[in-house]
Amino acid sequence: MKKVFTYIILGCCFLLIANACSKDDPKVVNPLPDNLADFLYYLAPSDQREGDAELGRDYLLNGDYVESGVPRAIFDASIGSMLERNNLLGRSGINEDIPYDYTSSVHSNGTILVSPNCFQCHAGFVEDEFILGLANTTYDFTIDQGASKNLLDLFVTQTYGMDSPEWEAYEPFSRSLGVTAGQLVTEVRGANPADKLALVLAAHRDKEDLSWQDEAGIIIPNEVIPADPPAWWLLKDKNAMFTTAVGQGDFARLMMASSILTLQDSSRAREIDSYFADVLAFINTLDAPAYSGPINQSLANEGEAIYLESCAVCHGSKGNYPNYLVDFEVIKTDSMLALTNYAYDDFLNWYNESWFNQGPYAARLVSGRGYVAPPLDGVWATAPYLHNGSVPTIYDLLKSDQRPEFWRRSYGDVEYDHQKLGWIYTSPSSKTDKQTYDANLLGYGNHGHTFGDHLSESDRMAVIEYLKTF
Ligand code: HEC
Ligand code: HEC
Repeated sequence: MKKVFTYIILGCCFLLIANACSKDDPKVVNPLPDNLADFLYYLAPSDQREGDAELGRDYLLNGDYVESGVPRAIFDASIGSMLERNNLLGRSGINEDIPYDYTSSVHSNGTILVSPNCFQCHAGFVEDEFILGLANTTYDFTIDQGASKNLLDLFVTQTYGMDSPEWEAYEPFSRSLGVTAGQLVTEVRGANPADKLALVLAAHRDKEDLSWQDEAGIIIPNEVIPADPPAWWLLKDKNAMFTTAVGQGDFARLMMASSILTLQDSSRAREIDSYFADVLAFINTLDAPAYSGPINQSLANEGEAIYLESCAVCHGSKGNYPNYLVDFEVIKTDSMLALTNYAYDDFLNWYNESWFNQGPYAARLVSGRGYVAPPLDGVWATAPYLHNGSVPTIYDLLKSDQRPEFWRRSYGDVEYDHQKLGWIYTSPSSKTDKQTYDANLLGYGNHGHTFGDHLSESDRMAVIEYLKTF
């Protein structure tokens, strides 16, 4: 009894001290555990292939790494007629009037096709500014693609027949849509199911020669856990890929895996792979966009000192990125992404025993106990925050009890909040529609990363000002 009492007294004193400090005392009390180093796992670098950035850009924008798709005339008359064609990538030839997130190419049988490209998920806008490599946070994966597949099948068969070169060129795309339909449905517009997409597509491939198999080779789990794609300009500093650091070894090989959407087999994979060293070289030339508003430099300087004391141990300082994976015990953010796909042995074994992990440029998936503390370059532009995009502004990230459980934005280009850094949003009292984020859903949790909570309000605003300079 006496012991309990002592604890209560001690606890109260501690609370008093903590409160006193957080009021207006500018001295920052760091909330991190003394043995923090035990929870930071250094990610070692691996050799990367050299490439030609110019060639890589051209291949990324015009290449046929997605080698099956919709016949051009059908695209123009259906999906294409609904999309804006403003040539944001400055492409020429058959791609001049194709929306930036699709690529037109000539199939080996002569058919002209249109296929989705990497910019479906890796290009976006901040205040009307088109930014290549920024996550697309507006894509609507809440819609089951099954209906569009049936419609497209019908268009292609009725227009050309099933014995046509057009059907031959379209068929691999159709069968992938068929197996992924229903598997990738997210709960909120903007949430990205690509990690599950990789799993579903792997399940339908022979691991050695990558040929298609109708029957799934591994059991496909039900959950669809979203991930917010990291900005491409961060990759050059990283030693492992993805928010979980699961992607290790040759980055070009890891990236070209997207082509298994429609790939014929491993001999074609080898060809595509040979271009991806150039794609990586191009991605490594991308820089973070400079902050679009004015910066209060003296406030930013104050923020720098606080940042160096409270944040740099994990995120690094400018020009010095430490490459850490932070254990669940310390980061305490939603663990589902790291604990589902990337801890699923059948999927990991498939990949690690597959064509992808062969030869001098092998890549492998290594499951880990936490999330990468990312470099923060251009972080002002990359809302929403955390690996699942669960927090709409940096202010909310740095004050965890402020984070909205439900939040909703308009998905327009102008909705930027320069005070809190991130999106302007409203906080409804429940999930009203697919535009409303709900942090109670499985994998959508917004908890953890409480490292800004102890800051006084003025210190927090100073850190935010400093982050604008990244
Ligand atoms: C359907 C959406 C989608 C498409 C298409 C897509 N990606 Fe991604 N990409 C993602 C998601 C989601 C992540 C984050 C996954 C994670 O962290 O678990 C990601 C991560 C990345 C990263 C960041 C790695 C890091 O850790 O910083 C790179 C680079 C990348 N993708 C390249 C590509 C390239 C190149 C293509 C086209 C060949 C492509 N992606 C196609 C969704 C997509
Ligand atoms: C103990 C290590 C650690 C400390 C200290 C830390 N962070 Fe983080 N931070 C992380 C990790 C890990 C993530 C990714 C977590 C996730 O996605 O679930 C992250 C994510 C972020 C993000 C979101 C990035 C994005 O694009 O989604 C921002 C912004 C950020 N931290 C800022 C800060 C600031 C500012 C501080 C200091 C007040 C700080 N962090 C302190 C480890 C840390």
